[in-house]
Amino acid sequence: MSGEWQGKESRKTRLPHSINHQPSTIHHLPQPPTRPGNGHLQDWALSPLPLIEDGARRARAAGTDLFRLRLGLPSVVGFSPAWNRRLLSDLDTFRSAGGFSAVVPYLAGGVILTDAPLHRRRRQTINPGFGKKHLETLRGRTQAALLPIPDGEFDALEWADGAVLRLLNAAYFGGEFDAGLLHAFLAPLRRPFPVPALPRPRLFLRVDAELRRLATWRLTGGGDDLLAVLAPIPGGLEEARVSLAAAHDTTTHALAYAVWHLAQHPGWHAPEHHGAVLKETLRLHPPGWMGSRRLSRELDWNGVRLPRGTLALYAPYLSARDPGLWNAPEKFQPQRWQHKPPAWAYLPFGGGERLCLGMHLAQMLILDALAALPPLRAVRGDDTPVPGITLGPKGPLVVRRA
Ligand code: HEM
Repeated sequence: MSGEWQGKESRKTRLPHSINHQPSTIHHLPQPPTRPGNGHLQDWALSPLPLIEDGARRARAAGTDLFRLRLGLPSVVGFSPAWNRRLLSDLDTFRSAGGFSAVVPYLAGGVILTDAPLHRRRRQTINPGFGKKHLETLRGRTQAALLPIPDGEFDALEWADGAVLRLLNAAYFGGEFDAGLLHAFLAPLRRPFPVPALPRPRLFLRVDAELRRLATWRLTGGGDDLLAVLAPIPGGLEEARVSLAAAHDTTTHALAYAVWHLAQHPGWHAPEHHGAVLKETLRLHPPGWMGSRRLSRELDWNGVRLPRGTLALYAPYLSARDPGLWNAPEKFQPQRWQHKPPAWAYLPFGGGERLCLGMHLAQMLILDALAALPPLRAVRGDDTPVPGITLGPKGPLVVRRA
């Protein structure tokens, strides 16, 4: 372990048992202040980052790694490497089907809602299409889908949005998916709740019809894009639709933030530094800022009894900014990536068996997009992180050629 990282897991994570030596319950966990009548629901909806940062501070002060939220059902947020490892490795206890994805029609399906023991087999079936080797065969097409950047000033967020739509269209469909329909399908995901959770049966039917049209060609005529890999798999078209929804805003926000950081720190704008820049961007602004599971059984976590059905959250945003684990966690310092981070503290793509299906795809698309950019300067912008289904910059992020 190098001196770059602090602390490891030195924090003691056991809450004192209650006086009669019964295990503590979820009610004994620290929690941020509540509002009369709605617990934490209002703060969760309007400003979740200050809420969870406050919860983490209180948990640290109490010597634990878990805090409670009152969201209408028993809920806990953990942020230590030990909690992350357990939640992401014990798929029998921590189930995805009862998490937040279930209430967002875009994400409620395919591999995202498949739980153990079926999940592993499902991932084994679809992983190869998203592996580095297969992606390399698509790379020429995705690189060709990049447009030259505009002359003069432009908003990096708007630019990244359009660029990622074209890149995903190229990777999944060889660019053949109706671009207007793809935009219409993905646009509601970016809006504040409850917009992404609203059912859109007519739109989904149109998307499914377009997927079937393109899949028919691939099933008869071959092809090697991502749809060609998914189409022969039972349920493969649903996997295509669901993974596109998981892909778009995450990749757009990561790319927009990376461009903004490069425009502010032009010394890092060289292909040999872009890997570290992307890692640091995803540490500070992980689009997947919070992941959710439901407990399928009661769990004793360091002496605290968490009931079956508890909403169990892990927070890549908190873990990657924990002052006990990272030096100067608020600072953009790509040089920190000369060393390995503490295990299970850096989870922009989740971890374990449910590690992001599109991790290699996103990295390839973003790094190729950055490599094609000229030197840039930041002009003006608002990079305040706004958490929705994914975390992204408030924007705009106006940059220009240097
Ligand atoms: C920078 C871009 C991306 C980020 C930061 C990101 C982040 C994440 C995270 C944190 C998870 C785990 C969620 C959890 O544990 O609950 C995840 C899962 C997933 N991601 Fe991504 N993602 C990105 C791009 C993509 C792309 C391009 C795809 C396209 C295939 C994709 C498809 C998925 C799928 C299908 C899952 C669920 C995997 C499973 O449950 O087995 N993601 N992603």
